[in-house]
Amino acid sequence: MSSVVKVSAIASYLPEKVLTNTDLEKILDTSDKWIVQRTGISERRIAVNESVSKMASLVAQKLLKKSGLSGKDINLIIVSSMTPDGTSPTAAAFVKDNISANNAFGFDVNSACTGFVYALSIGEKFARNPDYKNVLVIASEQNSKYLNWTDRTTSVLFGDGAGGVLLQRSSDKNDVESFLGEQMDIKYDKAITNAMLKDSNELPTNKIIPISTLKMDGRKVFEFVVTKVPQNINTLLEKTHTPINSVDKLILHQANKRLLPLIEKEINTVGVYTPCDIQKYGNTSSASIPILLDSVYNGQDADDTVILSGFGGGLSIGSMLLHLKGRF
Ligand code: ACO
Repeated sequence: MSSVVKVSAIASYLPEKVLTNTDLEKILDTSDKWIVQRTGISERRIAVNESVSKMASLVAQKLLKKSGLSGKDINLIIVSSMTPDGTSPTAAAFVKDNISANNAFGFDVNSACTGFVYALSIGEKFARNPDYKNVLVIASEQNSKYLNWTDRTTSVLFGDGAGGVLLQRSSDKNDVESFLGEQMDIKYDKAITNAMLKDSNELPTNKIIPISTLKMDGRKVFEFVVTKVPQNINTLLEKTHTPINSVDKLILHQANKRLLPLIEKEINTVGVYTPCDIQKYGNTSSASIPILLDSVYNGQDADDTVILSGFGGGLSIGSMLLHLKGRF
């Protein structure tokens, strides 16, 4: 299927405050050695002076600057976040205000770490319509505010940050090509929660008890990722008749460095470059893919076939095949 939508700009924002593994050793029964060996993470950023809406707005400003557009050129703003400042006004509404996007409307989406890829697939469908010439798709996460800082099994893993892209119509045969989303049975649901539910079987009753911090059954999620994510990517490749050797880069959600070679092995990615920046930023949930895109392509000329794959809470997976062409 040829497409008429392209990624025209990529940007990210990382908070200034760095929290190292050595800092965590002082407040938790953990060690730099354990964290590096088990996850690949050395440090992460913590948003002290930034909210989700502020980080998303800073990314939007960078996207405008990179593309030479002004706020009034933007028609639609989609923000992915599993850690929004509130439910209303949405983060997208704040972005619209902060960049004076007077001709835009916007909304937020949430599918945990998969959210950016889902948001991108929604944005792409709008951008096919000539009424939506310029679409901002941004992911912004302040995981630190949902962490239990006495729980070493989750708090060492996550970081804060934001990233996003500008989507525009294109006459080229390339760009955003195909998308495959998947949602596991609800039996998996409790593997990752920060839900307002005491029990996912109690839907929705007056027994709802707020649980404000993130909990994750790491081993169960690890197993899910190494079996289901490669299957999802392989199905996408088959559906689109794309041989793996025509893919230049595999941009995976940054949840654990150890996951990357295991996924690569299952999809037989000989010669495919699978970049990783988890060492510096930890798991920034839905922001990890656009942050990684910006780390890889910032200032570079690209002509790459790329697979994006996000996975996480739900449990959910979303993979997308796209072509990135131009200077980002
Ligand atoms: N420091 C020291 N020891 C620790 C720490 C820590 N920070 N955390 C756990 N341990 C201990 C455990 O208590 C356990 O000790 P025990 O053997 O005495 O019981 C031991 O280390 C091993 O624990 P495991 O949980 O088995 O460690 P594992 O190697 O599985 O690593 C991790 C845990 C990093 C969470 C891994 O399972 C993982 O990456 N899972 C997948 C995460 C993922 O993909 N998430 C998806 C996206 S997230 C989202 O959507 C919100």
